[in-house]
Formats: sequence, structure tokens, C-alpha cells
Amino acid sequence: MSLTLAIVKPDAVASKKTGAIVAHLEREGFTIRALRMTRLNRGQAESFYGVHRERPFFQSLVSFMTSGPVAAMVLEADDAVPRLREAIGATDPAEAAPDTVRALFAESKERNAIHASDSDENAEIEIGFFFSTSDLLAL
Ligand code: CMP
Repeated sequence: MSLTLAIVKPDAVASKKTGAIVAHLEREGFTIRALRMTRLNRGQAESFYGVHRERPFFQSLVSFMTSGPVAAMVLEADDAVPRLREAIGATDPAEAAPDTVRALFAESKERNAIHASDSDENAEIEIGFFFSTSDLLAL
């Protein structure tokens, strides 16, 4: 079993899709190990998405990610990172496979409902961004 981080983004939280997305991920076989609502400030969003700092969409992405609450969660499964990437679908919902989270719930390439870690190394870093080790000890 391994862990990954998912974030239900402000578009999906604002349109009350959080529960449906969590239910979808549980149906896909993920176990929720930790879950909390929070709102990122500008510094946190810039740091979280630091790898995209030079991209033309960076400022817009930071504005979007700070525009409202998000639901951050740690998910557990065999091969959690690649399985969650598969379950959420392509960045652009127009290109996402049927029945993926983004095909079902995303609005656009930026307002795309969910984030998922892209490697085990980044999953560990991103989990640490939202949760402490003690949050994960209970199960
Ligand atoms: P995410 O998987 O969280 O990783 C980076 C985010 O940047 C991505 O989802 C989108 O929300 C956003 N993003 C990626 N590419 C673009 C783009 N071309 N235009 C606008 N936003 C983008």
C-alpha cells in the first residue's frame, strides 16, 4: 500500500461536488487516511505550485487556488500515485477519459476540480504540506 495527496479544488468545492468526488474515489478503491478543509493563502499556493512558477498560467493558477476553500486528503491504495492519476484523468477535461473525476466534474483546464501528486517523491512532499505525521497514525 502507498499514499498520495489529492486536493479537491475551489471550483469543485464551491459547486458542492466535494462529496461526490470523495465518493467516486472511494468507489475506485482508495481509502481516505486524512481529510481536511482549508483555504490556501497566496504564499502557500505559490509554494505548492512552485514548479510552475515560469508558466504563463502561474498567476492565474495561484489566484484560482486561493479563491476559496479546498479539501485536501491523503489516499491509500496499491500504487496510489499512478492509480489516482488514472482515476482523475487528463488535465484538460475535454481530453479526460470517460468516468474520470475531471471528465465528470471539471469545468476547464485550469478549473479542473482536482489535483493529484505526480510521483511518490512529490506525494511525500505534498502530504507534508497539508498534514503532520500524527494525522496519519490513527489507522
Ligand atoms: P494540477 O494537476 O493541479 O497541476 C497544475 C495545474 O495548473 C493544473 O492542474 C491546472 O489547474 C493548471 N494548468 C495546467 N495547465 C494549464 C493551462 N494551460 N492553462 C491554465 N491552467 C493550467
